[in-house]
Amino acid sequence: METKNNLEKDTNISQNPSLKDDYQPKITIDDAIKIYKRGKIEVVALRGLNCTFNQGEITVIMGPSGCGKTTLLNIIGGLDRPNSGNIIVDGENICHLSDNELEKYRRNKIGFVFQFLNLIPELTAEENILLPLELSGTLSKERRDFIKELLDIVGLEDRKVHRPDELSGGEQQRISVAAALANNPDIVLCDEPTGELDTQSKNVVLSLLRSIIERFPNKSIIIVSHDPDLKQIADKMYYIRDGVISHHFSKKELEELKNKSSDQNGFAPQDQNRAQEIALLELRELSHIINEKIKKIDKNLHAQ
Ligand SMILES: Nc1ncnc2c1ncn2[C@@H]1O[C@H](COP(=O)(O)OP(=O)(O)O)[C@@H](O)[C@H]1O
Ligand SMILES: [Mg+2]
Repeated sequence: METKNNLEKDTNISQNPSLKDDYQPKITIDDAIKIYKRGKIEVVALRGLNCTFNQGEITVIMGPSGCGKTTLLNIIGGLDRPNSGNIIVDGENICHLSDNELEKYRRNKIGFVFQFLNLIPELTAEENILLPLELSGTLSKERRDFIKELLDIVGLEDRKVHRPDELSGGEQQRISVAAALANNPDIVLCDEPTGELDTQSKNVVLSLLRSIIERFPNKSIIIVSHDPDLKQIADKMYYIRDGVISHHFSKKELEELKNKSSDQNGFAPQDQNRAQEIALLELRELSHIINEKIKKIDKNLHAQ
């Protein structure tokens, strides 16, 4: 695992000339471990995860359900803390912040977009967008102008007086994106943002996210999803499995993937080999566990 992570850092630099020695990624996740406790049971959600995120880029993190995607977003967003490791944002280790400082970090730097359209039903689209700002008490004329621009970018200026139940799923998600951007955060974190949408609405949200990064290249957008179509808007893509980065797609691999039609697992035929290798490993792990169990049962039977 160590070798793989080092290798990933090296490939990253050699494939992107802008990543010189003195280049600092916007965010660096260094050996993050997160363990949840459910009573006596421990669930290891992140097991020494390393990755980086750059300004002006959309990074997509794909992986199956339960592999640690939401956990990773939560610790980047300051909603949760890792048990160990470093989360460096703009050169500062946010793990060292106090609870108050972490809340301030979250308020000023982070925008969240969730899978489940989390707009407040009683408020209009515009009020939903303004809500986080009113809570943080930073509503200036510039902000109002910025909101207007946001509504324009999401293409819903004429829908601003509508309540969520008068909007389609896709329109609601576009409003959620505008709400996440309302306090002009540096980092936009999207957790399965297209999970609830039909194909057409999904495509609109994807091109919206793409146009946001083009319009605001000072931002970093991080999207976690198990939806392979997200690769279409990615500048950088990781695959996460069992709480570690199992693959960092090189620029070339990513371009190739974008040009191929995806099928099972979201991988094009050539990449099926990798998917099959993973499946085989899983099968081996499983058969090892089963064999151990059979041995135990055998032993118990003989002991009786
Ligand atoms: N609050 C929690 N308490 C206990 N276990 C959790 C909690 N949140 C997540 N987990 C577990 O951690 C693992 C990773 O979860 P998560 O990050 O939500 O994965 P993903 O978003 O990729 O589906 C899963 O096994 C999940 O059940
Ligand atoms: Mg999740």
